[in-house]
Amino acid sequence: MAPGSQLCLLFLLQFLQEAAPRSFEVDRQRGIFLLDGVPFRYVSGSIHYSRVPSPLWSDRLHKMRMSGLNAVQVYVPWNYHEPQPGVYNFQGNRDLVAFLKAAANEDLLVILRPGPYICAEWEMGGLPAWLLQNPEIVLRTSDPDFLAAVDSWFHVLMPMVQPWLYHNGGNIISVQVENEYGSYFACDFRYMRHLAGLFRALLGDQIFLFTTDGPRGFSCGTLQGLYSTVDFGPDDNMTEIFAMQQKYEPNGPLVNSEYYTGWLDYWGGNHSKWDTKTLANGLQNMLELGANVNMYMFHGGTNFGYWSGADFKKIYQPVTTSYDYDAPLSEAGDPTPKLLVIQSVISKFQELPLGPFPLPSPKMKFGPVTLKLAGDLLNFLNVLCPDEPIQSHLPLTFEAVKQDYGFLLYRTQLPQNLTKPTPLWVKNNGVRDRAYVMLDGVSQGILERDKDEALFMTGQAGSTLDVLLENMGRISFGYNISDFKGLIQPLVLGDVVLTDWLLFPLNIDALMDSKNRVFETQELNLKSSSGPAFYSATFQLPGPPWDTFLYLPGWTKGQVWINGFNLGRYWTRRGPQQSLYVPGPLLLPTGTPNIITLLELEHAPPRTQIQFLDRPLFNATLH
Ligand SMILES: *[C@@H]1O[C@H](CO)[C@@H](O)[C@H](O)[C@H]1NC(C)=O
Ligand SMILES: *[C@@H]1O[C@H](CO)[C@@H](O)[C@H](O)[C@H]1NC(C)=O
Ligand SMILES: *[C@@H]1O[C@H](CO)[C@@H](O)[C@H](O)[C@H]1NC(C)=O
Ligand SMILES: *[C@@H]1O[C@H](CO)[C@@H](O)[C@H](O)[C@H]1NC(C)=O
Ligand SMILES: *[C@@H]1O[C@H](CO)[C@@H](O)[C@H](O)[C@H]1NC(C)=O
Repeated sequence: MAPGSQLCLLFLLQFLQEAAPRSFEVDRQRGIFLLDGVPFRYVSGSIHYSRVPSPLWSDRLHKMRMSGLNAVQVYVPWNYHEPQPGVYNFQGNRDLVAFLKAAANEDLLVILRPGPYICAEWEMGGLPAWLLQNPEIVLRTSDPDFLAAVDSWFHVLMPMVQPWLYHNGGNIISVQVENEYGSYFACDFRYMRHLAGLFRALLGDQIFLFTTDGPRGFSCGTLQGLYSTVDFGPDDNMTEIFAMQQKYEPNGPLVNSEYYTGWLDYWGGNHSKWDTKTLANGLQNMLELGANVNMYMFHGGTNFGYWSGADFKKIYQPVTTSYDYDAPLSEAGDPTPKLLVIQSVISKFQELPLGPFPLPSPKMKFGPVTLKLAGDLLNFLNVLCPDEPIQSHLPLTFEAVKQDYGFLLYRTQLPQNLTKPTPLWVKNNGVRDRAYVMLDGVSQGILERDKDEALFMTGQAGSTLDVLLENMGRISFGYNISDFKGLIQPLVLGDVVLTDWLLFPLNIDALMDSKNRVFETQELNLKSSSGPAFYSATFQLPGPPWDTFLYLPGWTKGQVWINGFNLGRYWTRRGPQQSLYVPGPLLLPTGTPNIITLLELEHAPPRTQIQFLDRPLFNATLH
């Protein structure tokens, strides 16, 4: 090749690169997005990898692609990845990069929402509970302690994300800064400016950054330089709300970042069911306007373990274990009639991928399985809390003793004889969130947040008073999300403040990880069927490890583990959720025993049995 033609080739390559660079940007002349310089609109759906076991990610993403979506919107829950300050977990179900790869394999672009606050009805809106070890911290503000924690987290997260940005060859087209910040009390622009600067410093100037707010949140949620988007549902007035967005983004593309396909469930509430027709009409109207839409949720998934959050609207409202959300793809990843309607709306605006939609996954039904009482929780204190208990004059919070989630036991002695029934109560609604009270191991009843009740007790001086506190999930949305757990006020007997406490932070999950050996070896006194107790069984599958739903008829409230995996809370007595989704990949194939363990907190049924169903029971008709 002559030197001249080499030069020509070089120019040609340079020209090609300039003509079609990988880019995602706003065209303000036409009020649209451009992808690689070409008009582009996203029709996206939300999926949270933290709510789906990693072996099922590809399945769910494939179904989202086959529904006609060209993008997925994804939250990164900080508390899922940084369990303790400076300790990070990106393994297995927490492997964010593997999830991005799985989305890329399905040809899905990614709209990333790394917070630091995400809401998502997730524990504390994704913020790590350890932030509250400093009781003075002001979350989601320019409080230097909060900013320092955010900075060090993002210095770990953002370098992992950076190669996945679209212009770097990856699939992330845009990144959201904070989340509905305009709905928070602080309205701290210094904080938002700090975040914007941090995102720019760590991700570069080329990445498209945006904010999302409800229609009333713009004034505190938006920031110059971050594209303002809005969120609203099918019942809201699209014309009015998009007009509000355009006040902040004149000539910019319309974006609904959370178009609600359904809604979440609260314990004690009704199961949410949203009308498909209204949803489809709203979607069609937005797409006709040329708007970009993300459907929240497209696949909801499950609040495994202790990860469900809570709302606060006058009272504390904890979210159920199921996050089915009445979404187009069910909790078990199956297409619903809603999905087919949405798919048909999308098909009027963009081409659907070729090929058949995957069939619903097979489910299995078997049982009953009879559980054996393994013993009262109090019998296991030495293994659940192997360290010496913490001594304290007055009760301390979960945060003060570095117990982030689950359960903390408070123990003291009765200071006097109680011959007449005497009220046991907590000042100023200070129970966070449920207290299971035992006197010399005998259940006395429950104190619950927002109930302002007392238990009446008789007993002898010196008797052991045990109070097991349950964290039902920290508030994830509202005016104030500093939701300290445990006894946040003193416990009072009659008019005597109880003192001289021993605190036992319980690590139940470590015990479950060790495959329950302790339940087989301990010699115990098995009298009780009331108050917190463990029940356990081994069982074989009738066939291949398919998905199933655990049904707990007659059980009251508690936590379930299968093969060491914390499946989440059940609360059969309160509902509406009556069964727990058990993903097939958690189960062991025929020939290998599976272990199930319940921590029943209140009352077990006379027959300590469970069943596995081939469909969920959401108790939709309970009013
Ligand atoms: C929506 O808002 C617009 C502008 O305020 C109004 O003209 C229209 O009647 C509203 N539509 C509905 C269905 O309420
Ligand atoms: C459940 O729905 C019924 C009927 O609509 C209603 O009367 C009841 O108040 C709802 N319950 C809750 C907890 O919202
Ligand atoms: C409590 O009652 C027991 C027996 O019922 C009695 O022996 C004891 O002296 C009483 N203690 C106090 C502090 O009154
Ligand atoms: C939020 O709640 C915490 C804990 O109850 C309290 O200390 C703090 O003052 C509250 N903040 C606001 C702004 O109300
Ligand atoms: C829903 O659950 C409640 C509480 O367990 C039960 O009383 C009721 O019968 C159930 N309703 C339906 C329709 O399953």
